[in-house]
Amino acid sequence: MSGANGFGRFFGGSASEIPPMARPPAPPPDTREPLQFPTQTVAQPEVTPDVNEPAVTDPVADEVVEANADTVTEPEVEVPTEAQVTEPVTSDPVELGPTGRPMPNLPDPRPVTVHGNARIISMCNQKGGVGKTTTTINLGASLAEFGRKVLLVDFDPQGSLSVGLGLNPHQMELTIYNLLMQKEITVDEVVVPTNVPGVDLLPSNIDLSAAEVQLVHEVGREQTLQRVLAPAIEKYDVILIDCQPSLGLLTVNALTASDGVIVPLECEYFALRGVALLKTTIDKVQERLNPRLTVDGVLGTMFDGRTLHSREVMQRLVEAWGDQVFHTVIRRTIKFSDSTVAGEPITSYAAASTGADAYRQLAREVAVRCPDV
Ligand SMILES: Nc1ncnc2c1ncn2[C@@H]1O[C@H](COP(=O)(O)OP(=O)(O)OP(=O)(O)O)[C@@H](O)[C@H]1O
Ligand SMILES: [Mg+2]
Repeated sequence: MSGANGFGRFFGGSASEIPPMARPPAPPPDTREPLQFPTQTVAQPEVTPDVNEPAVTDPVADEVVEANADTVTEPEVEVPTEAQVTEPVTSDPVELGPTGRPMPNLPDPRPVTVHGNARIISMCNQKGGVGKTTTTINLGASLAEFGRKVLLVDFDPQGSLSVGLGLNPHQMELTIYNLLMQKEITVDEVVVPTNVPGVDLLPSNIDLSAAEVQLVHEVGREQTLQRVLAPAIEKYDVILIDCQPSLGLLTVNALTASDGVIVPLECEYFALRGVALLKTTIDKVQERLNPRLTVDGVLGTMFDGRTLHSREVMQRLVEAWGDQVFHTVIRRTIKFSDSTVAGEPITSYAAASTGADAYRQLAREVAVRCPDV
């Protein structure tokens, strides 16, 4: 688009640059002098791109330009007056969110008085480092701020979720590995409280990597996590499962146990690769193992609204996933790494930060999308 606001189409630096179509009707070809345009130049308004606002396309203006190309002799378009130039032609009364769509009103989730009947949601993306663990911790902590009883399940042998909540992976007596592999162990024995009020954890460490191999020989291997989590459903409002970066048997177990899946996606070009495979896996699990599985949302993470790249990736995400993309995006900030080192969620480490607010907003949006949360 030439000129973000379309002004450039109407006004050049001088009258000689005004396209013929834009001139007033030609005088009768008799004795009169040829019509002269004023030599006064009209300054082209300077447009400073707003990095937070996506460029607004004016389709009508585009049509005018195309018409100009074909019908240059027809004096149909009036030259805008100076007053019109100063008008903010592109101003959009609807506030657009970072995904380029109008931002809906997201109310606080309704208070809950009776806990139980948890919705189980997996954070899933086979790409590493996209914000699965960060989202599990901070969405969980935000939902707990809204009065939900939350169980976080560390389902990654890296144990990042457990470490991110201040646990030492080498000092865990029982982990989710024991729960999966030893029939006599109950979920209550493995659950540990965290420093975050309302949030409990099923911890994990490297032992879990053995489960992936051992489960292969089990009957009903894909339903193992679903079986062991079942007793916890009545005690919590939400159970969030932090998956490892793969689409192997552990992730299939997580999807089979879940009601919904959230796909965190870094707002970076390579993040888009592999998403089709993830979608196929989700579809297969839904078709063959778990018909109630739905995609609760695709979450743009590490978004940097100052870069065209981030905004373009976001646009591609919305094109590919439509309304499944959350209106909430998580911006890139070093505070997330800092809070991981501190072993607590950003909602308590930097409670007033934009990162904390973003996850609170995500919690509101999840509650709107999933009324059972
Ligand atoms: N919005 C953000 N801004 C800046 N850094 C972030 C953001 N979200 C996460 N991080 C950082 O990026 C790194 C990877 O995040 P995280 O561990 O949540 O990803 P992951 O998908 O769980 O990774 P893995 O696939 O290895 O489990 C961490 O150091 C985390 O602190
Ligand atoms: Mg992780």
